[in-house]
This record gives sequence, structure tokens and C-alpha cells, in this order.
Amino acid sequence: MMWYDPQPFTLGGDPRANLKITGLSAGYGPFLVLRDLALEVRPGLTVILGPNGAGKTTLLKALAGLIPRQGEVLLNGEVLPTQTNEIVQRGMALVPEGRQLFAQMTVTENLELGGWLVPKAERARRLEEAFADFPKLRERAHQLAGTMSGGEQQMVAVARAMMSGPRLLMLDEPSLGLAPKMVAELLGMARRIADAGTTVLMVEQNVKKALAVADRGYVLERGTLVASGPATLLARSTVIREAYLGVDAAVRTAAVSRTASSALPA
Ligand SMILES: Nc1ncnc2c1ncn2[C@@H]1O[C@H](COP(=O)(O)OP(=O)(O)O)[C@@H](O)[C@H]1O
Ligand SMILES: [Mg+2]
Repeated sequence: MMWYDPQPFTLGGDPRANLKITGLSAGYGPFLVLRDLALEVRPGLTVILGPNGAGKTTLLKALAGLIPRQGEVLLNGEVLPTQTNEIVQRGMALVPEGRQLFAQMTVTENLELGGWLVPKAERARRLEEAFADFPKLRERAHQLAGTMSGGEQQMVAVARAMMSGPRLLMLDEPSLGLAPKMVAELLGMARRIADAGTTVLMVEQNVKKALAVADRGYVLERGTLVASGPATLLARSTVIREAYLGVDAAVRTAAVSRTASSALPA
């Protein structure tokens, strides 16, 4: 049995969300990691690729309100608040790098924390939906999260984020440290969440597999966007092949833009 139900997800998904980001800068204290980024997250699955230290996590943290940001972020045309709880209430949820579950709490308790902003009765209803969406978690409902494998913990982390009923789900390197079979299952799950209507913005190091499930992608290097485009074209582009897939052959793909902060082709 798979970790998630191959039927459409019950949690999340309505209405289909988009983000428009312009002039985004963010960093840590006086140290700016991201400078003047412009990007668009459309309904479907968008992946952010790039080497270690490029600023991928910083981007998701800034969008989630975990660090200060400058610039404009519009969620479905409305200005996104800067406070984390207000951002969650508007329908954005983050599955952080390294899962960050409460190891000494059970699966159920971790999931309930994902519904901290909703009334108790609604939280109970969503817990049922989470168990319907992720049937294997029901079997593990009373297991301490810290005793689960990496892949299992990642599923709990995703289900916890879905408990907030997000319109837009952000995933920070969900496949990090997982065995290939589990990587495939997680990326497949991200795809299904997107297909069910929740917009997904995913950071991944697993370039090839991520582009295989994504609709569109951006490549971030040293805090700047260096390429963007449809996933199929990005996978064939020079910038991706040379830097990440170890292919020498230069395949020029005109539809993939290489300019900084470029918008996606229509
Ligand atoms: N809490 C922090 N304080 C100061 N600098 C940080 C902090 N977190 C990350 N950085 C720095 O910000 C840059 C981008 O990091 P990060 O966004 O984590 O990159 P990525 O997720 O792409 O690997 C790196 O130079 C990193 O050292
Ligand atoms: Mg990171």
C-alpha cells in the first residue's frame, strides 16, 4: 500500500492559488541572501532548483513569514501578510527542511498541531480526512514520530501541513536523505496534491526526478534566478544539463530564459 491514497486528496485545494512575487529581498540581519527576485507560482507544481546555499530555503522561509522580507507578494492578487499565523490563515503552509516533527509526540498529536488555527470540531474532521488521504498514518496513529523512518516522518510532515487546509503548499527538499523508492513516492504525492487543486511550490536537489513531476521550474544560484521555464524544457536546457545532470552536450532551448528574474513564458 502506498503512503497516500491515490484518489484525489480531501484536504486543501480550493480555490486554485497563485503567487506573484516582485522585488523580493530577504536574508539574515544585515546579510541579504535574496536580492530583487521576481517569480510567479501558478496552479500546479513549481519546483525551485539550485545548489546548496543558493537561497532556496531562505525563499520559502521569507514566504512563510519566518524571516523578514521586502518586496511585493500577492496571493491570488491580494497582498500576503507578513505574520506566519496570518499567512497560514490565508492558505499557505510550509513543510520545512528536515521535517521538524515533535519526536516525542504521536502521529495524531503532530497532525493536530497542523490544525492549530482551526476550531476543535473542524480539527477532528480534518484529522479524519488526513487519515483518509494518508491511510498508512492511521495504522501509525499512536506511534511516536521520532521512532519512524525518514520517509514515514516526511509523510507525517506533509499530512501535518495539509491539516491547515492549504491552497498553496510549500515543500522544502522533501526527498532529502530518502531511499529512491521513497523519493518516487514523495514526489508522486506532491504531484497528486497539485492535481487535486492545491498549488505546490517545491524546493528539490533531486533535479531529474523533480523536473519529471513538475509543471514549471526556476533555477536559483547565489540568491538570483538564472533560468526558468516549463519543466520539460528546463530538463533539456543547457543550464540544467551542464550544472546538474552532468551532460556536456549543449542543447540550446530558446523557450527557457536565462536572464535573471525573468518571467515564465506564457
Ligand atoms: N539562520 C541563518 N543565519 C545566517 N545565514 C544563514 C542562515 N540560514 C542560511 N544562511 C545563509 O544563507 C544562504 C542561503 O542559505 P539557504 O537558503 O539555506 O540555501 P539553500 O536552501 O539553497 O541550500 C547561505 O549562504 C547560508 O549560509
Ligand atoms: Mg535548503
